[in-house]
Amino acid sequence: MSSSMTKADMEREIKQLAPFHHRVALPHGLSTYDAASSLRRREKTRLDALTRHAFPRLLELCGGSFEGKRVIDVACNCGGFSVEAARLGADYVLGFDVADRYLEQANFIKQALELDNVEFRKMAMEDCSDESIGSYDVAFCFGILYHLENPVFAMKQLASVTSDIMLVDASVIKTPLNPRAMWKMNVPKVVESEDKSTTALWRSEQRCQFKPNAKAVIELLKFLGFSTVEIIRPRKSGLELRYYTRKRVSFLARR
Ligand SMILES: C[S@@+](CC[C@H](N)C(=O)[O-])C[C@H]1O[C@@H](n2cnc3c(N)ncnc32)[C@H](O)[C@@H]1O
Repeated sequence: MSSSMTKADMEREIKQLAPFHHRVALPHGLSTYDAASSLRRREKTRLDALTRHAFPRLLELCGGSFEGKRVIDVACNCGGFSVEAARLGADYVLGFDVADRYLEQANFIKQALELDNVEFRKMAMEDCSDESIGSYDVAFCFGILYHLENPVFAMKQLASVTSDIMLVDASVIKTPLNPRAMWKMNVPKVVESEDKSTTALWRSEQRCQFKPNAKAVIELLKFLGFSTVEIIRPRKSGLELRYYTRKRVSFLARR
């Protein structure tokens, strides 16, 4: 890995922008993970765990790589998954988020890795449309479904720009076998504005959110026009515990 940024430049930026939600490998043997400023253990594992869990099957469906694909990464945070798609050969990747600080982090990573096939933009999922951003072969919808105030509307907007595959990774409520589709409402505490944690910056206003069970995610994706929806089963070991306890599930939907 090489970059025109010096090691000292990168170290300074990492310190200034930390903590990052994704541990992204950078040139000069550096990474965005900074143990001293890390606030949650997951910052070290998130990117690696989900790519190891879900990307092999996704790439299989894509013919082995993202070559020739346009990929959209919703609620991208500091952009680790966008960068992964760019590295795996996507023609073009658009990552977007609502929080300026995360986009600043994402643009630093893009610059450090000298990636020209990825772009980061400030935008809300609810504003996805063909007119605003065009159409994508593959959509990443990670860590956002259960935070949305209007999940069906927002997912409809995302589906309208997704021509082939949507990968959804979400926290779900556990329900008995053969359950009905269900959503549980939750009004989380407002996060103090000085809280710099890597997934909380946008939660300074009161919001209402809905957590689905797995059946509800499957039904929603079918309602949005995907003909097949599969649950990716966790590999034997090496993932975050929540994938094994089925509190976190990845769904692969195809047109
Ligand atoms: C739990 S983090 C998930 C980050 C990343 N996708 C992942 O899975 O690791 C949720 C992210 O959603 C962003 N966000 C919240 N509401 C959003 C919205 N309506 N549209 C786009 N991004 C949103 C937040 O700023 C935050 O970066």
